[in-house]
Amino acid sequence: MARGLGATVRRFPAGDLAALEAMLTEAPPGVSKMICMDGVNSMTGNTPNLVAFAALAREHGALLYVDDAHGFGVIGERSATEASPYGHRGNSIVAHAGETYDGIVLVGGFSKAYSSLLAFLAVPTWLKDHLKVAAAPYLFSGPSPIASLATVLSGFDVNAARGDAIRADLHAKTAKVLATTTALRLATPNTSGLPIIELPLANPDDIDGVGHFLFDAGIYVTLAAYPLVPRSEVGFRVQITAANGDDEIDELCTTLRALAERFELQRHAELPAQGRRIGSATPDAEVRLSA
Ligand SMILES: Cc1ncc(COP(=O)(O)O)c(C=O)c1O
Repeated sequence: MARGLGATVRRFPAGDLAALEAMLTEAPPGVSKMICMDGVNSMTGNTPNLVAFAALAREHGALLYVDDAHGFGVIGERSATEASPYGHRGNSIVAHAGETYDGIVLVGGFSKAYSSLLAFLAVPTWLKDHLKVAAAPYLFSGPSPIASLATVLSGFDVNAARGDAIRADLHAKTAKVLATTTALRLATPNTSGLPIIELPLANPDDIDGVGHFLFDAGIYVTLAAYPLVPRSEVGFRVQITAANGDDEIDELCTTLRALAERFELQRHAELPAQGRRIGSATPDAEVRLSA
C-alpha cells in the first residue's frame, strides 16, 4: 500500500541498527522517512532496543512506527515496586523502555492480551490531524462495534484491579516453561522471558508429526511451516496465557520432554545466560541464540 502511494520501501534485518542507519543515510535529502517494526516480536517474543531505534530515528528526522500488538497489556512501565519484570500496567513497549513518545507512532491491539477486536494508534498531534482527513480506513469504515468497546472497557477494569498480579503469574508460568526448554537444551530465540516461545525443529520435515504429537497430547501451538518461514526456522510457537492453569503448564512441560525424546529439536550448544532475560541488568539487549 505504501508503494502504491508512491513511497520507496526498503527492508532492514530486524534489530540491525547499523543496516538501518546506512539506509537512512542514503535516503535523498528532504524526503519523509518512516521506520516500521514490531515491538514485542510476534515470533521470537523479544523486544527491540527501542531506545537506540528512537535515537536513530530522531537523529535522521524519521518517524518510528512500532507495532506492539504483542506487548500491549503484557509489558509496561518499570518501577521499584513492580510485581514482575514485565513492569506495571501493561502500557506497552514505549513506557517499558522508559522512552518518550517524541517522533513515535505506537500501534497497540486488543486482540492478544485483551481478547477483543480493537486497535489504537498513539501518534503526534499533527499526524492525528492528518490521518483524520487522509486515512482511508478511518474515513470509510464504520465505528468499532459496541461489543468490542464494552469488552475492552471491562478489560481495563480487570487491568486496573489485578493486571499486575496477572502479569506476575504469567511471568512465573513462562519462566517455568523456559526452565524446561533450557534444561532440555532446546534452542529458542526467546531471550526476553516473554510468553511467546518459538522452538525450531532440527528436521523441517518433522513438522506434521510434531504437530500431530502435540495436538494428540492436547497442546495447541502455532505451527511455523515452510514456506511461511525459512526451512532452517521451521518449528512451532508456544503461547502461554494467564488463563492457563498451573496443571496445564505442567502438562505442557511434560509433553515437551516427551516430544524432545521422540523428535529432534534444535539444541543449544550451551545454556543461555539468564542475564539476557527481561528483568536482568540489560533488559534491552536482544541476542538471537539460534541461527
Ligand atoms: C505484530 C502484529 N500486529 C498486528 C496483528 C493483527 O492484530 P489483529 O488481529 O488485532 O488485527 C498481529 C496478529 O497476529 C501481529 O502479530
